[in-house]
Amino acid sequence: MLSGKSFYIQTFGCQMNENDSEHVASLLLKEGAVKASSPEESDIILINTCAVREKSVEKLFSYLGRLKEQKQTRQAVVACLGCVAQLYREKLLRRFPYLDAVVGPAQYEVLPEILRNSIREKAVRTAWKRNWTELPILTEARESTVSAYVTIMEGCNNFCTYCVVPFTRGREKYRPLKAVLKEVEELASRGYKEVQLLGQNVNSYRDPETGADFTEVLKRLAEVKGIEWIRFITSHPKNFTLEMARTMASVGKICHQLHLPLQSGSNRILKLMNRNYTREEYLEKIDWLKSLMPDISLSTDIIVGFPTETEEDFQQTMELLEKIKFTNIFSFRYSPRPYSAASRMKDDVPEETKIERLIRLQNRQKEIQLELNRKLVGKKLRVLCLGPSKKGQLFQGRSEGYQVVNFKSQEDCRGHFVDVKITGCGPYSLHGKVS
Ligand code: 5AD
Ligand code: SF4
Repeated sequence: MLSGKSFYIQTFGCQMNENDSEHVASLLLKEGAVKASSPEESDIILINTCAVREKSVEKLFSYLGRLKEQKQTRQAVVACLGCVAQLYREKLLRRFPYLDAVVGPAQYEVLPEILRNSIREKAVRTAWKRNWTELPILTEARESTVSAYVTIMEGCNNFCTYCVVPFTRGREKYRPLKAVLKEVEELASRGYKEVQLLGQNVNSYRDPETGADFTEVLKRLAEVKGIEWIRFITSHPKNFTLEMARTMASVGKICHQLHLPLQSGSNRILKLMNRNYTREEYLEKIDWLKSLMPDISLSTDIIVGFPTETEEDFQQTMELLEKIKFTNIFSFRYSPRPYSAASRMKDDVPEETKIERLIRLQNRQKEIQLELNRKLVGKKLRVLCLGPSKKGQLFQGRSEGYQVVNFKSQEDCRGHFVDVKITGCGPYSLHGKVS
């Protein structure tokens, strides 16, 4: 029985993992288990893992190493979930023999049963699914009461040569639009103001029942009363169409914000990455977006040091940074991943060069962000207040462009939209006061 047992979920990785952890929490709450505030106080410790980069896995392994003590001093049940579980399976049990279970992302519905049995036998469950499985989510299991993640598809058919995701999440599976709508209506009725639609490649979405595409999903969700802002992540540039840009521009509730992973500014590297677009095509899409929505906030992912990347290739990435002026970037040193095609190429860019390129990229981006943010000082921004800020006294929220805004307010405005006069900024956040 799980009734009365306490559990703690430690989540590593992307928003989809965060949403998966909310699903897992729902499953356990339904069985009568209760959330604990730390692993030290819990009967069940679940670690939801990320395999996307070598560094994520190293970080996880050192976390798992530290859990050994927990196992020795108390009788906690410890299970490893997520993409690392899917990828390493029994190998994890060999390396960390005190783990009780290893469960991949497609097997969470059997987790309660596994946890009930784990005292008696160790379990490894990682089978892939071909179709979407609906796992309901309880509001109590959500991390925010204001902004909610809603997964609409999972998996990826793209096989970018550096990427492990097609081998952890499997092929694309689409959630029926009916179920998406039902969840968003339910969220609206509980007072949520924003939804963030999730999927590895949301633009390739097709409703398995009606064939409706992603623009149709956006239009239908925009009809839900109470939901004011709609965002989505991630879009693949090759599947991002002019129709999508027009929908973003014309449907009022869709935030003028887009995460469009570039990965590299060099056509030669893009080809080796199997990205299926050129820098010119990427730039053309950015042009559409900027001309339809001059206020759009763009963010991206960039990998430096992909096999054979030269200084010239890297300069082409730097050039696009100058041209596009992203509000935010996520940048990484290339690391070879299991099963990926690039892992069979020689990882020939020296580690020092990768580090040095990453620093140059991040330093220049920091300046760009500061320049962009300074232009907002003195302006009023509509902000959705998500709660108190980490620094106390202040509140924290996000602008339509998804910038972090810390601000003063006389009233508790959690869960509400407020107009904030921006009085200052750093490269990574804005601050101000409710005007
Ligand atoms: N090495 C470095 N970065 C990677 N990413 C994915 N795979 C790798 C890898 N092998 C980055 C990409 C992707 C983001 C989620 O992680 O930029 O968009
Ligand atoms: Fe990985 Fe490419 Fe699929 Fe994104 S689109 S999950 S980078 S294979």
